[in-house]
This record gives sequence, C-alpha cells and structure tokens, in this order.
Amino acid sequence: MAKSNFNVVPNPTAKAGTTLENLKSAVNGETGATTKYAAYAKAAEEQGFPAVARLFAATSKAEQIHINLEAGLIRKAFEPDFQNPTAEAPEPLSTDLNLIDAAKGEIWETSDMYPQFIKAAEAEGNDEAVRIFTRAKLAEGFHAQRYIDAYNTLDKPTDEHYYVCPVCGYIHKGKTEDPCPICGAKASVFLEF
Ligand SMILES: [Fe+2]
Ligand SMILES: [Fe+2]
Repeated sequence: MAKSNFNVVPNPTAKAGTTLENLKSAVNGETGATTKYAAYAKAAEEQGFPAVARLFAATSKAEQIHINLEAGLIRKAFEPDFQNPTAEAPEPLSTDLNLIDAAKGEIWETSDMYPQFIKAAEAEGNDEAVRIFTRAKLAEGFHAQRYIDAYNTLDKPTDEHYYVCPVCGYIHKGKTEDPCPICGAKASVFLEF
C-alpha cells in the first residue's frame, strides 16, 4: 500500500494516546460523524438536493463501517464488554455549508487524527489496528473529495448514485466494475445509495 500521503500535519489537534485510547477516540469521532451526516442527509433532502442527500447517507453508512471495525477490535483485543457510544446530531445549516463542514472533518481525520493513530499503533506493534486505521484514513480522503465535488457542483444536480465498499468505507461516485482501490473488495458487493 502506498505510504506517500501518511504524514501528520504540523501542530496536530487530535490527542493521540495508547492504541486502546485511540480506538475509543476514533469510535467517538466516527459516531459523531455518522450521526451528523444522517442529519445533513435529511436537511439536503428537505432543501431540494437529493443527490447530496444520497452522498451524506452513503458517508453516514461508511462511518458506521469504521465504527464496527474499531469497536470490534476493542472488544476482541482489549475490552470484551465495550459498549458503543451515542452522539447528538448538530442542527444542520444550509447544504453548501454542511458539505464544507463535513469536508473539513474528513480532511482533519485523514491528515491529523488517523496518521497519528497509525504511527502509535505501529510503535505498539498492533498490526490489526494499523490496518484498520490505515483503511479508514484512506477512505476519509475519498470522503473529503466526494464532499468537495458535491460542493462545487451543487447547482448541477447529478443522477449518479454512490457506492460504498462494505469492507472499508470507500465511496465511489457512479456505477463501477472496478474493485475497491483501498481494500480490493469486488464492486459487486458495494452498497448503492
Ligand atoms: Fe469519512
Ligand atoms: Fe474497500
């Protein structure tokens, strides 16, 4: 897997700790994201942007995939009784601003939070955490790209649907035959939104 885009931004704001702490922090962050995107999907639908609503719904699902992977590793390797947290949805704004807010969160995760967590997991020799964080980090970069694309084309509605890789949370815009560029899963298993 390419490792050219795994640097941590200067003055990172995510607090990295042990891998267990980082897994919990990631689960919390992804829980906030999935809840927020579900609220933004509803707002986009109400505001007359059905394609953006599908993108938010797809990304909400992708973050649930990350939660399942991370919480699953917590239960398997550290705390069998770990309970998934819940989050409050924020009050949505207009859909253009919701897209920018969402893109900012994705960029923060892909350039600040996850690269730090990957380095900590590598230092601990926790290969499974490295793999889960790495796939999530790469997926967040694609999520940011999809949000910025939707922002730049907000007034040119698309009929395209979005396809979520159920293994790693990658999102493809439009139908594809190509396997997931992150984890290699076949396109036939992708979830359509
Ligand atoms: Fe994401
Ligand atoms: Fe994938």
